[in-house]
Amino acid sequence: MTTQATTGDAEARLQEHFDATIGRDQRIEPRDWMPDGYRRTLIRQIAQHAHSEIIGMQPEGQWITRAPSLRRKAILLAKVQDEAGHGLYLYSAAETLGADRAELTEMLIDGRQKYSSIFNYPTLTFADVGVIGWLVDGAAICNQVPLCRSSYGPYARAMIRICKEESFHQRQGYELLLTMMRGTDAQREMVQDAVNRWWWPSLMMFGPPDDASPNSARSMAWKIKRHSNDELRQRFVDMTVPQAEKLGVTLPDPELRWNDERGHYDFGAPDWDELRRVISGDGPCNAERIARRRAAHEEGAWVREAAAAYAAKRAAGRRAAA
Ligand SMILES: [Fe+2]
Ligand SMILES: [Fe+2]
Repeated sequence: MTTQATTGDAEARLQEHFDATIGRDQRIEPRDWMPDGYRRTLIRQIAQHAHSEIIGMQPEGQWITRAPSLRRKAILLAKVQDEAGHGLYLYSAAETLGADRAELTEMLIDGRQKYSSIFNYPTLTFADVGVIGWLVDGAAICNQVPLCRSSYGPYARAMIRICKEESFHQRQGYELLLTMMRGTDAQREMVQDAVNRWWWPSLMMFGPPDDASPNSARSMAWKIKRHSNDELRQRFVDMTVPQAEKLGVTLPDPELRWNDERGHYDFGAPDWDELRRVISGDGPCNAERIARRRAAHEEGAWVREAAAAYAAKRAAGRRAAA
């Protein structure tokens, strides 16, 4: 009885300390006490984010061998490698919460964990590389800049570096599109076609509308998430419309127009049924993406084994020396 009461008191004090830390906008660090729900939510979100970076290498990676010049190939190669790096920082951040990276990879491959719906769409032309940089990395920036102030220290710190690289990704995409728009009619048509295909999936990257996003409120209270899905989507549209005008492309939304009263652009609703289908595994490339990830994991088994054997040998050497 006494022990239970004491444990209860201790737990309440820990919870109070946690709430106060969040309330003061300070960071929660790996060794700090945290509620189980906070830990579970973070592991799920960070893992999903890491998986997205790694799966996100595929749609553009397919164009590395077909890049139109050495310069474009070098840029694309660097960009795709950056995404691998983002995945690695994020898996490391998830490990600080006690998650096991091998297990997270298993959960991705067998479909128990998700990744961003956007990477289940095909890349049909080289203009898609530019549009992904401009719109997809652009949307990622809107989503991720507020995460630099996320309440969990390792996640927030990983996001600072990731965001710097994402802004390079966005600029390289936009620069590629500007170049194509100064080219031939056929190139301009390629850009417009890619914009038509990627616009709505990019808006879906912010997730379902706020009234259909039940976990958001909890994440906002914990300051894991800083703005609602709809706020971020609006911010993305407001940022992107002037860029589309400068580029000379039309965004495929007849409802898109400036609203003087709101001081924002009004825009149409994405096809939420499509988002649900793609998230639940029925998008154009879901099966292909997972099959490729699984094959890469299996083909890389010997590298993991060699690295583990080398680390064990080094550790044994250090023990013998001591
Ligand atoms: Fe990234
Ligand atoms: Fe990126």
